[in-house]
Amino acid sequence: MANTRKPLISGNWKMHYNHFEAIQTVQKLAYALTSEDYEEVDVSVHPPFTDIRSVQTVLQADDVPIALGAQNVHQEEKGAFTGEIAAGMLAKLDVTYVIVGHSERREIFGESDEIVNAKAIAVLKANMTPIVCCGETLEERQGGQAESKVASQIAGSLSNLTAEVVGELVIAYEPIWAIGTGETASSDDAQQMCAHIRSLVKDGWGAEAAAAVRIQYGGSVKPGNAPELMAQPDIDGALVGGAALDPEDFSRIVNYRLYQA
Ligand code: PGA
Repeated sequence: MANTRKPLISGNWKMHYNHFEAIQTVQKLAYALTSEDYEEVDVSVHPPFTDIRSVQTVLQADDVPIALGAQNVHQEEKGAFTGEIAAGMLAKLDVTYVIVGHSERREIFGESDEIVNAKAIAVLKANMTPIVCCGETLEERQGGQAESKVASQIAGSLSNLTAEVVGELVIAYEPIWAIGTGETASSDDAQQMCAHIRSLVKDGWGAEAAAAVRIQYGGSVKPGNAPELMAQPDIDGALVGGAALDPEDFSRIVNYRLYQA
């Protein structure tokens, strides 16, 4: 059966750019992309929280179909959680996609699968789409535990979700050793793990959810390696860090289909 999943290329800006710089960056990106690009590929940008309102204003004023994303969210609806941001606040700013469980959140800020699961549920309740991240460390890969690690993250992070919901969300496979290191998983390794994730979804939530769920690869995606990664049958997009900071590089990644794999 032909794959009807529309690719999603997401730019995770991490802790880069104040709101003035964010406006410039998104304007340059909007200028570099065409309506045909948006027909072929869904595109999202994930600026820091303090930039979201400014980026929203630019996208709205010029009717640019780049989806707005966030990098994190708190799992509670509201309350005494100093410094945190609720899903409802993001939804009000027209945020469409929210990254949950990025490895930097898991490793530096101690987020467990249980927390990631609660965050994904909070995002869904606010009618947005979570991009749920998973991925193994270098030690786990070298020790032959990459697949079991990802399996336990998927089971934990997606627990209590219905098949219908799982089919609509986005999973990002990001091997930790490839993030920000310039090392990319080979397209074969990335494909193998993304196929494994799809089979986990099939086992847990059924064939329909598995056929529908979009799986991104992330970890040193660049214009040069995007065509080969995107040519893999189970890779439906990319979660891009470093290269997303440069609108020209990012637009070339969005345009992967124009370049030779
Ligand atoms: P990178 O980051 O592209 O800089 O490796 C990817 C990510 O962390 O989402």
